[in-house]
Amino acid sequence: MELLEKKIEQANDLAALESVRIEIFGKKGVLAAEFAKMREIPNEEKKEFAKNLNIKKAKLTKLFDFKKMKLEALAIDEMMAKEGVDVTLYKIKSTSGALHPVMETMNKIIDYFVSMNFSVHEGDYIEDDFHNFEALNLPKHHPARDMQDTFYLKDGFVLRTHTSPVQIHTMKKSKPPIRMISPGSVFRRDFDITHTPMFHQVEGLVVDEEGKVSFSNLKWILEDFLRYMFGSVEVRFRPSFFPFTEPSTEVDISCIFCEGKGCRVCSKTGWLEILGAGMVDANVFKAVGYENVSGYAFGVGVERLAMLIHSIGDLRSLFEGDVRLLEQFR
Ligand code: PHE
Repeated sequence: MELLEKKIEQANDLAALESVRIEIFGKKGVLAAEFAKMREIPNEEKKEFAKNLNIKKAKLTKLFDFKKMKLEALAIDEMMAKEGVDVTLYKIKSTSGALHPVMETMNKIIDYFVSMNFSVHEGDYIEDDFHNFEALNLPKHHPARDMQDTFYLKDGFVLRTHTSPVQIHTMKKSKPPIRMISPGSVFRRDFDITHTPMFHQVEGLVVDEEGKVSFSNLKWILEDFLRYMFGSVEVRFRPSFFPFTEPSTEVDISCIFCEGKGCRVCSKTGWLEILGAGMVDANVFKAVGYENVSGYAFGVGVERLAMLIHSIGDLRSLFEGDVRLLEQFR
């Protein structure tokens, strides 16, 4: 038996150990032959013989298992040394995704207003005529409805043309003070290089007791917001018209491409039109049953900002879902 133990001990790779295994433990191996001898042994010695043989078999098995474990570990070490990965050879492509530039911009806008203590209300895509138009001082046949031609559903429902109806829902549901934004998709019947039938807005509304919310509050927050988005730009307020605000303003920043000198992007004006805003019109408060309050509202087009931030020429390209294009804005 000592010879067998030595054989196990001396096997110096897994293949050699396998032949030793067959020699010792195989069907025609040494142990099988030893056990076969049982037949010729007188009955009274059988027990003792079998016992000894089993002890030897157990010893050999233990020795064999241990040797096998050692050789396997050695084989793995050898393989690692031989086939180790050369990390300088090539780069495994990262498969992690990234936010769509529109969502990234929207999140940045939301972050700003949340940091200014605005709450976030999402609202629904389908609105009735009252919430999308009527309550916002856009009665039927009002010419301003023309700019917000949309997709009409049955029974007077529409796909919302702006996030402003969320103002109405929020005011109907709660009492002032209100300090909210509403980010989300909106829909219009438009399609050209700066318009798509679906786009995104972030609406803002602040309402408090009469006299507590002023146009200068609105000016301050929009200036601060636009510098947060674009760095040190000039901000210009131009008189404008929206049915739901009075007075109304359109807000521009000095062109971030030519710094106000005039270029193709700003149509040589030096200014980029960014958003609409104003003091909430008295008729809007009337529609939701508010009295003795004042407030301001604003609406930002998210794509417009994303296009400026990333110098994107054609808005439609953002929604074609071409990964090669989107990858550039990581
Ligand atoms: N709802 C307006 C639009 O979609 C934007 C806006 C919102 C303007 C709030 C003023 C105040 O054009």
